[in-house]
Amino acid sequence: MANKRVFSGIQPSGDLHIGNYLGAMVNWVRGQGEHDNVFCIVDLHAITVPQDPKILKKRILENAKMYLAAGIDPKKSTLFVQSDRPEHSELAWILNCFTYMGEMNRMTQFKEKSNQTKVRTEMKKILKKQKGYTTKYLEKRLDELKDAKTNTQEWFESVMLEIQKEQFDQEIEATIDNYFASNATVGLFDYPVLMAADILLYDTDEVPVGDDQKQHVEIARDIAKRVNNKFGKVFTVPEPIIKKEGARIMSLVDPTKKMAKSDDSENSYVLLRDNADTIYKKFARATTDSENVIKFDKEKKPGISNLLNIMSVATETPIPELEKKYADSNYGEFKKDVADCVIELLKPLQEKLAEYDKNEDYVRKVLKDGAEAVAPRAQATLERVKKAVGLGL
Ligand code: TYM
Repeated sequence: MANKRVFSGIQPSGDLHIGNYLGAMVNWVRGQGEHDNVFCIVDLHAITVPQDPKILKKRILENAKMYLAAGIDPKKSTLFVQSDRPEHSELAWILNCFTYMGEMNRMTQFKEKSNQTKVRTEMKKILKKQKGYTTKYLEKRLDELKDAKTNTQEWFESVMLEIQKEQFDQEIEATIDNYFASNATVGLFDYPVLMAADILLYDTDEVPVGDDQKQHVEIARDIAKRVNNKFGKVFTVPEPIIKKEGARIMSLVDPTKKMAKSDDSENSYVLLRDNADTIYKKFARATTDSENVIKFDKEKKPGISNLLNIMSVATETPIPELEKKYADSNYGEFKKDVADCVIELLKPLQEKLAEYDKNEDYVRKVLKDGAEAVAPRAQATLERVKKAVGLGL
C-alpha cells in the first residue's frame, strides 16, 4: 500500500510556542519516516487578521526555521509557503461554492477571533452587572477601535468610566455583537474553506493537529464528501489526527484557556526561542491552586494538570508516573522541574535554530524547492476538480 499522505500547517501570525510544538510539530516529526508529508506555512491564513507586511515576511522565514529545527527533514518531508502555490486560493474559491453560510457560522474559531474576545467578554460582564449606558454613545466610541493607534485597554477603561455614569440600555449587548461581527473580514469568516483547500489539494489521508483545529478538519471532510457525492470521487476524505497528550496545552496565566500566540500576556506562553531564565520565570509564575497536591484533575486543578501534561509530553512519561514521583514535592519544586524538562526539550531545537539563523539562504531554498515539488500534485487535483465541476473549455 502506498504511504499515507499527511498534510499540516502553521500560521506565521506570531512567535511559535510550546503549544504549537507539543500539540502539532512533535507529531509531524515522529511520523516523518513512515508517511508522505507535506507541511505548509499558511501565510494566506495569517492575513485574515491585520498584519504588518514586514513582520509577516520575517515570520514566514522564522516559521520555516522552526520546522527545520524541530526536525522536519527536507529529504523526507516537503516544506513550502502557501501563497507560493496559487492552487490553494483557486481551489478555495471553488470549495466556497460548495460550503454553506450556516456551516461557517458555527465555527468557534471565527467567533472567538471576530469577537476580539477579551474586550468583548469583559464589556458584557460589566454591562450585565451594572446596567448603565446608551447604544448611541457606544456606537460612537466603537468606531475608535477601527483606528490601529487606539490602545484597546485604555479605550476600554475610558468607555467603562463613562458607562458607570450613565443610564442602562438593553440594546447595548446586541450592538456590541453586531459591531464585532460586521467588522471581521470575509477572509476570517472563510478561513476554514481555505484550510479545506490546503488539505484536499494533496489527497491528504491524515491531518495531525491540536485539538482546536478538529472542527476545521471536520468541515474539510464534509466538503470533500459533499463534492464526491455530487460528482463522483474527486477528493480523498481526510482524517484529523489528534494525540491525546499535548492536544491542548493551556495558558500558564489562565489555565482554563488554551495557550495562544495572540494572548496579551507574555507570561501565558513559553516561546520556542525563550531562554532558560525566562522559562524558569514563566513557570515559577504559572497559576496553580492552594492545595499543594500534585494530582491531575482538569476541572478542579487546571493549572497543575496543565503542568503535568506539559511535563508528560516533553519527557514522554505517563501522568500517573509523574504524580507518583512528585507525591511528596511542593509546587515550587515541581514547577522548577517542569521548567527544566522544557529547557531540555528545547535545547536541541534552539541550537539548530542558531545555525539556520546564520544560513537563511538555505531555508529560502528549501521553501522554493518545496513549492516546486508539490506543484504537480496540486495542479492535478485542481484540474480534476475543474473538470468534475464543468469549468473552462
Ligand atoms: P495555528 O497556526 O493556530 O497552530 C498550528 C498548530 O498548533 C496547534 N496548537 C496547539 N496545540 C496544542 N495546544 C495549544 N495551545 C495549541 N495552539 C496551537 C494547532 O492545533 C495547529 O495544529 N488553521 C491552522 C493552520 C492551517 C492548517 C491547514 C492546519 C491552515 N491550513 C491545513 C492543518 C491543515 C491554524 O491556525 O493553526
